[in-house]
Amino acid sequence: MMDHIDYMMAIMAEAFDPQWGEAWTRRQLSGSLSLPTIFYRLIGADGVSPDFATNAAAPEGFTPAGFTLTRHISGEEELLLIAVHPAHRGKGLGRKLMELFEQDARSRGAAQMFLEMRSNNPAERLYRSCGYLPIGKRKDYYRLKNGDRLDAVTFSLALT
Ligand SMILES: CC(C)(COP(=O)(O)OP(=O)(O)OC[C@H]1O[C@@H](n2cnc3c(N)ncnc32)[C@H](O)[C@@H]1OP(=O)(O)O)[C@@H](O)C(=O)NCCC(=O)NCCS
Repeated sequence: MMDHIDYMMAIMAEAFDPQWGEAWTRRQLSGSLSLPTIFYRLIGADGVSPDFATNAAAPEGFTPAGFTLTRHISGEEELLLIAVHPAHRGKGLGRKLMELFEQDARSRGAAQMFLEMRSNNPAERLYRSCGYLPIGKRKDYYRLKNGDRLDAVTFSLALT
């Protein structure tokens, strides 16, 4: 049976355009998941996200379609990765993952949400529609394979 890292890596391999160099390696992912500050959510193609907190086996027929990887430190929750497999995009799974991100963050006692994206990522529309606003820019933060640089934009949302 595939484990949860297999599910996430299978989505990662298809979801991130290699030109931006945003996909994590399996080593990076499994290393981060060994930290107590890192959390994840998987979502199925049917929009259901089983509670995987205990790394339990996926329900029968689970088709992994997307995931988030997040970090919680001292009341601050940060979205490290969000990805939906291209075959399952445009059906609201990304928005559902953002809702779960916020819900999970609240349950961990977060007061402030953060995320960072390369400046030309169309996901900005999703983030803004979830209430996130840009709070800062890191100039030339991303180095692309072709040598170009792109700014990183930090978005934040205060939870009330
Ligand atoms: C960003 C991403 C997770 C969105 O997943 P999704 O399941 O297609 O999102 P949804 O169907 O829930 O769409 C949510 C909203 O965002 C908008 N949106 C999402 N991706 C978009 C894109 N690439 N271009 C334009 N709009 C986009 C949709 O129009 C939608 O708005 P609506 O509800 O008003 O119609 C997905 O495109 C993805 O995996 N991208 C590659 C990975 C990535 O760049 N992640 C972010 C950096 S870590």
